[in-house]
Amino acid sequence: MNMMSEAAVEKALDKNMSDAPLKMIGKDVSVYYGEKRALFDVNLNVRKNTVTALIGPSGCGKSTFLRTLNRMNDTIDGCRITGKITLDNADIYDPSVDVVELRARVGMVFQKPNPFPKSIYENIAYGPRIHGLAKTKADMDRIVESSLQRAGLWNEAKDRLQEPGTGLSGGQQQRLCIARAVAVSPEVILMDEPCSALDPIATAKVEELIHELRTNFTIVIVTHSMQQAARVSQRTAMFHLGNLVEENDTDKMFTNPDDQRTQDYIMGRFG
Ligand SMILES: Nc1ncnc2c1ncn2[C@@H]1O[C@H](COP(=O)(O)OP(=O)(O)OP(=O)(O)O)[C@@H](O)[C@H]1O
Ligand SMILES: [Mg+2]
Repeated sequence: MNMMSEAAVEKALDKNMSDAPLKMIGKDVSVYYGEKRALFDVNLNVRKNTVTALIGPSGCGKSTFLRTLNRMNDTIDGCRITGKITLDNADIYDPSVDVVELRARVGMVFQKPNPFPKSIYENIAYGPRIHGLAKTKADMDRIVESSLQRAGLWNEAKDRLQEPGTGLSGGQQQRLCIARAVAVSPEVILMDEPCSALDPIATAKVEELIHELRTNFTIVIVTHSMQQAARVSQRTAMFHLGNLVEENDTDKMFTNPDDQRTQDYIMGRFG
């Protein structure tokens, strides 16, 4: 019998993400801030149980595109979007969509760790409570523990659950924010430069975590670091001046990109 080793299976999984089913589809997505157009007819798919990295020079529209995926742009005055974005083939901009529910399905982790000024426990319990995910205190305790476990923070946090989340180190706070995102069982997690405020060791921990989270979640991450994109993602999308330049398997993108602008960017010629 031809048994593949675990590493080989992992490698094969990593290599063939172009075949993974589509979780979100962005079709002809354009975004305007008042008169200014920030995205130009972007067509970008997000594949299930895949880490998709968004890269490109500052101001190219990475955060703008990321925010369209859970309608965080709705909160910005004067921001307008055209085109279509679907989650499991349903239009997320349809007037019937409950945005609070959408954001529970498509969670977000920000650049700067932003725990609530409450205890570690409350930081995680807040979301499940407003979404009615726990019937009893024991249910909630389980959610808090498993979320912290998944975020690789349980051992460090289990003896200080009632202490303020803001008392944790920067890297721990970011993992707390990931635990908070995971607690409502989202399907997709959006991360906008989640490691840019972290030191190399904390960054390595969060990257390892992203790798593990892919088993249960679909992840879209904005990063300035091409090394990070290469380490954590299976698919990469390159933006330039509001245009999607190229979307490809990460391996291909960093070894033999189809577009000259991608080549120039990864060679450090601009940005
Ligand atoms: N709230 C806003 N109001 C007006 N213009 C904005 C707003 N947010 C972003 N923009 C503009 O839209 C364009 C894309 O910005 P965006 O923040 O998406 O880029 P980015 O690729 O995430 O950049 P960075 O790498 O610096 O974070 C830029 O020209 C930016 O100035
Ligand atoms: Mg940004």
